[in-house]
Amino acid sequence: MRLFSSDAARIKRDKKLKDKARNSDARRTEYLLNENISFDVSEAFRNLKASISLSIPKKQSGEGTVIVMTSACPEDGKTTVSVNLALMFAMSEAKVVLVDADVRKGRVARFFRKRSAPGLADFLSGQSDLSSIVHRSHENENFSYITCGTHSPRPYELLESDEMKNLIAELKKEYDYVVVDTPPLLLVSDALAITSEADGAVVVCRHQVSYVSDIAKTLNTLSFAKANVLGVVVNDYDAREKLSYRSDRYKYYSYCYDSTAETAQKKE
Ligand SMILES: Nc1ncnc2c1ncn2[C@@H]1O[C@H](COP(=O)(O)OP(=O)(O)O)[C@@H](O)[C@H]1O
Ligand SMILES: [Mg+2]
Repeated sequence: MRLFSSDAARIKRDKKLKDKARNSDARRTEYLLNENISFDVSEAFRNLKASISLSIPKKQSGEGTVIVMTSACPEDGKTTVSVNLALMFAMSEAKVVLVDADVRKGRVARFFRKRSAPGLADFLSGQSDLSSIVHRSHENENFSYITCGTHSPRPYELLESDEMKNLIAELKKEYDYVVVDTPPLLLVSDALAITSEADGAVVVCRHQVSYVSDIAKTLNTLSFAKANVLGVVVNDYDAREKLSYRSDRYKYYSYCYDSTAETAQKKE
């Protein structure tokens, strides 16, 4: 059977995703920023953090900034980027809370070897109080996180509830940054339930995996919902191909965990 180029691309993408998924659980915690991470990776996150804080002016009210992280598809790297971006903010002395708003399949808990429940969904449905769902991370004392909680049959309704709005309002009083990790926008519209409460949205895509058409649809959907799109993060990007992504319209930030990035840096 003849394969058309789009079929071949899709098969290549599926294979890459399966390979990643196979190794994902064992390797997940390695993707937390720490002192052993390569210069390229930490620099890319520093750049992303700086660009976001420059794009959103500090509020006179002293309230924190809310950033929604989203992407078109599963496995693009939203959670990985969200956790590490939040950690980078915390490393620069900002008080940060990461909220796992993927109440369908949230994975923030795994980064910290915690259980997902109780978490956000339990708080929103009145089963838990705030103090029992906010955890202080061992990685950095400025960094707290809220896991996704017990699976809910009506996630969108939970996320657009007044309880969620009140929660964000409370967190903004307490933290300089509230980073909200959400599910893939082309599969479910949960992220849109939160964008109205956010100061900005960041779209994550995966190098050589994401389709430009999917990224465009995601950006259009966010624009239609009047979200303030801050930019696109190109995740899993090889630093040796630095010049291959350019755009006049959106800023791109990149990082990869490929150990060869460090090697490439040394060779330069
Ligand atoms: N830059 C990267 N390099 C290598 N693996 C990555 C990278 N970013 C994410 N991953 C892996 O890809 C998988 C999906 O990442 P995740 O952040 O959970 O995506 P999403 O939240 O978009 O579904 C995980 O196994 C994660 O460890
Ligand atoms: Mg995720």
